[in-house]
Amino acid sequence: MTALINNLHHEGAREVCRAHNDRPDALLEILHETQKADGHLSDEALVTIADALNISRADIHGVVSFYHDYRREEPAQHQIQLCRAEACQAVGSEALAAHAEKKLDVATGEKTADNKIGLSAVYCLGNCALGPAAMIDGKLIGRMTPERLDVLIAKLMGAPS
Ligand code: FES
Repeated sequence: MTALINNLHHEGAREVCRAHNDRPDALLEILHETQKADGHLSDEALVTIADALNISRADIHGVVSFYHDYRREEPAQHQIQLCRAEACQAVGSEALAAHAEKKLDVATGEKTADNKIGLSAVYCLGNCALGPAAMIDGKLIGRMTPERLDVLIAKLMGAPS
């Protein structure tokens, strides 16, 4: 197992480390840039970064797990984010989220088995007056209803990847 882990290499992550002169104090920027290129932080990328910066793999895993912005898994092709903060809760966001989970057959924080749609919670999208608020693939949508969400999900399911 050790030999297998030691053979992991990610050329993209190595390039990012070189661009930062393999400086351990640039770890957060290196992680961000690597994730931006790949969409997530793979085992190969983390091992490569740890080796390049001469920091322990345990330390790098600690940093990655501490910050919620870092993803260890490949993201779904489409992202549905539903606001679950107070103003949206007051106008039905919890029922909307339950509807979305049932419709997609996933829990919040998961993605569909075909990797097509990811469902996640956010806590205020700055659209409180038009709740329940949603963000779908980066587009803010107000006054979301289960019926509107069903139409949008159908479009995402049929959308080319
Ligand atoms: S509470 Fe939902 S957008 Fe602010």
